[in-house]
Formats: sequence, structure tokens, C-alpha cells
Amino acid sequence: MSDVFENVMDLAKRRGFIWQTSECYGAVAGFIDYGPLGAMMKRRIEDIWRNFYVIEEGYYEIECPTIAQEAVFIASGHVKGFSDKMCQCPHCKEYLRADHVADGGGISGASTMTNEALAAAIAACKCPACEEVLGTVEVYNFNLMFATTIGPGSQRIGYLRPETAQGMFVDFARLLRFYRDTLPFGAVQIGKSYRNEISPRQGMIRLREFTQAEAEIFVHPDKKTHPKFARYADYTMPLLTYVHQQNGEEAVTMSMRVAVDKGVIANEYVAYYVALTHDLLVTIGVKPDRLRFRQHLPDERAHYATDCWDAEVFSQRFGWVETVGIADRTDYDLNAHAKQSGTPMTVFIQYTEPRKENRRRIIPNMSVLGKQYRQKAKAVFAALEHATPTADGADVVVDGETIHIPANLFEVRDEVVDIRGEEIVPHVIEPSYGIDRMCYAVLEQAYDEDTVDGEKRTVLRFSPRVAPVQVAVFPLMTRDGLDTIADEITHTLKRKGILAEYDDSGAIGRRYRRQDEIGTPFAITVDYETKETRTVTVRDRDSMKQVRIGIDTLPQTISALVNGDMKFTSLPAHQNL
Ligand code: ATP
Ligand code: GLY
Repeated sequence: MSDVFENVMDLAKRRGFIWQTSECYGAVAGFIDYGPLGAMMKRRIEDIWRNFYVIEEGYYEIECPTIAQEAVFIASGHVKGFSDKMCQCPHCKEYLRADHVADGGGISGASTMTNEALAAAIAACKCPACEEVLGTVEVYNFNLMFATTIGPGSQRIGYLRPETAQGMFVDFARLLRFYRDTLPFGAVQIGKSYRNEISPRQGMIRLREFTQAEAEIFVHPDKKTHPKFARYADYTMPLLTYVHQQNGEEAVTMSMRVAVDKGVIANEYVAYYVALTHDLLVTIGVKPDRLRFRQHLPDERAHYATDCWDAEVFSQRFGWVETVGIADRTDYDLNAHAKQSGTPMTVFIQYTEPRKENRRRIIPNMSVLGKQYRQKAKAVFAALEHATPTADGADVVVDGETIHIPANLFEVRDEVVDIRGEEIVPHVIEPSYGIDRMCYAVLEQAYDEDTVDGEKRTVLRFSPRVAPVQVAVFPLMTRDGLDTIADEITHTLKRKGILAEYDDSGAIGRRYRRQDEIGTPFAITVDYETKETRTVTVRDRDSMKQVRIGIDTLPQTISALVNGDMKFTSLPAHQNL
């Protein structure tokens, strides 16, 4: 097979999955359009994601603007630090990611080098665009956010969001109220994010406008045990820890329970979402042998994260591609937004039993001190509350002046008080999915070619759950009422929410090939026997086997097949044709 990337992209363009945007004006790198079939496939992948996170986990979806005011991104650290290291090729003038040039030249540790060290390191590397040796270049930081202004003639700066996550953080107080002031809770968002990537030359993998699906799960900092951990405790997968990477070792397969017990994964929450992500990616059609989980090296982690794992999918063209990042973001974001906005971002945690605490109260003699200090009296009382009294009295400082209050002008009362709870800042666990990278992985892994009746067949072996068209309906002939029956079947299936495509054009073999090429998992053919027995043939895309089933059972059978509740092979064997 020739280069799978070229084949997939050619098919994607030709059959209406994906193409470059505004082609009639000349494409702009980093922007793509999803065509009719691509948009449908993307929605199906997003809906599977929703099933996992919204329906099963119970984290409601919210929708925030894609533009936010500057303060949001000052607090998050993006204004100051969301940059990549850039240089310009002195020969072809192409702007390049300096760390990618280093990676391509086999130089490791680029992410932790100073700009000067990186410039020196890549001097001997070749420019990936023109292939000349770079020589002397300057490396500088380039902020990836798209800036804009808000309002006409306004000086108010805004940015297109580089991640959906910040929306969930700034909405924390409202979300907390929605979830009735109880931890843990989560909110999710599927939407566009924007990054002015320096040199996006990897198709759908590196876009300047892309779709993220992110969950922010707010948990008690001292209780990172997931209430449903048992669901994934025995789930096993290869884990490439940072220690393995430092020692040049291979990934080791282990269960989530063992990974947490051995301290390989920081806590149950991170482990739970590592496993759930594996489950989800396999559900959309990623092959387990092309999927691994790689832990970030300590110097690679984002400024906010304590532990971070990337789900990496192997691409025949691009090698291992980060597709999902799962991070423990600690209390970094909530603290940052609380400080920047002046709004507390805490949860009151009530103790099961109130705690007894010794407390000393200093009660001033208000009438005497009030008369003596008049306007200053209020400040004196306040200062006295925090003073350290001696037998002689207490010294307080008011407006820079030290005032001695004699012991007979206040009373010291030692009391035992009930403390009902405390304010804490939750920690955030974040699984962050790149939907476009998931779409590419699904397309690349589904692409296949085989030979049928001596001819090449191109087939997208999509999971029925992500296939854009779910079933094709063909009349064998467009006469003798076969077309009318096929048309009725198509309508019945559509009314059940199944995307059925009627096709009566050309030889039946050609019609099958057209549907195979867009990954339609099943095809129904209405033939002359249909008129006798009210049965049709249902063909499976992958095995090309056919079974004959009754028209009346079609809606529930096709529905079960496309939802994955039933396998084609479990249809009654005696019906095999
Ligand atoms: P990379 O190192 O490849 O630039 P990243 O570490 O910057 O990725 P994150 O910031 O962790 O990525 O973003 C979370 C997810 O969003 C990624 O796992 C990826 O799937 C997706 N993503 C990030 N940047 C892009 C992009 N430019 N185009 C498409 N998807 C992206
Ligand atoms: N929210 C994680 C990221 O986009 O980097």
C-alpha cells in the first residue's frame, strides 16, 4: 500500500470528509473544513465522548464563549507563558518550531533548553522546509494565542481561547452552587480552541482552529480516591512511565490498581481517566496495539500539573501522536483566578463531627476605651482582638502608633468553640481530548485496501458507531416495485433515527464499492425474493457475507448492529446466504 496518509487524505477530499478551507482563495495552513460525511463522523465521535462523560460520569456539559477578556488569560498564565520556541530559516525564510527542528535532528531535551542553548544546538540541523543546514539562527518565544479587541474602537484586549478549560474554572462558583456545594463534581465542554501554531504542516494533527473535548473534575485535595474506581481497577494497558523513558526502557503492562499502589500513577482519579480514555479510544475504533499511555517527564509537565499522561496513537505517517492529555492540575487554576478576580474559589467542607478548639477572646471595656479613643476606638478594638496580652496589659498598633491598653480595660476569656468545617480549594483532574486528532486516527486506522473479484477494493473499516452513513438500501432493479419497497425501507429506518442512504444507480457491485469506500457498515438489498417472502439481504462490509432477514425486523436489527449491541456474526447462522 502506498503512503496511507496520502491515500486517506485523497479519499477524505474526494468523498466529502475533509478538505482545506476556502480552497478557491488558496488554502491557509492549519484550517480545515469537515465536509458532509466528515462532519457527521465527527459528531458521532463527539456523541460517544458525551456518552462516556455526560451520561455515564454525570458531568454536565456547558458552553462558554470562544473569546475571553485578557484577565482570564493573565490569571491562567497564557499571556505570559503560552509560547513555543521559534526561529526563522535564514535560507528559505520559513518560520520553524525550534524544538521540532531539534527533535528532527535527534537532539533531546529541547523543551528545557534556554533559547540561546537551543539556537546553538540546532545550528547543525537541516531546515525541514528547504533542507539547508540552518547555521546561525535566533530562537525566541512566540505566544500562540490569537489576540483581538472587544468592542468597536475599544482598547479592551481579548483572546481566542487556546483551551476550553478556562471557561469551567471561571464558572467555578456557579457550578459549585449547581452541584449543591458538594465535591466531587465535574463540568465538560466540547468546542473550538485556537492556537496560532508556528508551522502547521501535519494535516489534521496540528490545526490553528481545532475542537477540544475537556472535562474538569473538581475533587477534595486529600480525597483523590475515585468513588467508582472498581470499574477500572483491573483494567490493564501498557504504561510508559517517565522512569522507563529516562532509562530507555519499554512500556510495562499493568492494571490501574497496581499502577496506583506502586505510585506509578499519582492517584485513583488520574488512573481512572487513563483507563476510561483507553476504553473510549478503543470504542471509536483505535486499535489497542496502536495506543499507549506515556507519562510526562518531570521537566515536560505544564506549569500547573503534578502528574500528566498522554494517550498517544501511532500514526503510520507521524509516529506516536499525543491525542489526549490527562493531568492533575492541582489547585493552580482556582487559586490563580481567585487572586486575579478577587472572588473566593473555595468549598466549605463540613466535618462529620464538629471539632473542639480552644479560642481566646479579648473583650474590651467599650465605654471607657470608647470615650478615651473616640474616632480611633473602632481600630483599637479591632487591634486588641489580635493582641498578645501580658499581666500588665496589651500593646496595639493603630495608624503606626503603639498604644498601651492597661489590663483592667479588657477581659481575657478562654473558651472552647465548635468548628463545623473549613474552606478548601479543590484540585482539578483534567482529561483533555483533541477531537480532530481522534478523527484522523479513526480515518487512518480504518483505511484498508483488499481485492474482491480480482479488483482493488478501498474500504474504511469504521466501527458502526462512528460510520457517517449507517446503512445503504439498494433495490436490485429499478422496476417491478423493488424500488418502491427499498424506498419504504429507507424511510422506515430514517424515522427510527438511522442514517440510511438509498442508492439505485449502477450495478449492484459498484454500489457496494461506493459504500465500502465511505465505511457504511451494512447494506440492504431488495430483490425478487423480497416480494415473495418479505425478506431482504443484509451485507456486512468487512466480511462481505450476507444474511436474509424479515423486513419487519429490520429497524431493531439494524439499530442493534449500528449501536454495537449486536454483532453481524450473531445473526442466525442458518440465514447465511
Ligand atoms: P502538542 O505537544 O502536540 O502541541 P499539546 O501538548 O500542546 O500538543 P495540549 O495542550 O495538551 O496539547 O492540548 C490537549 C489536546 O488538544 C491534545 O492532546 C491534542 O489532542 C489537542 N490539540 C492541541 N493542540 C492542537 C492543534 N494545534 N491541533 C489539533 N489538536 C490539538
Ligand atoms: N486544557 C489542556 C490544554 O489544552 O492544554
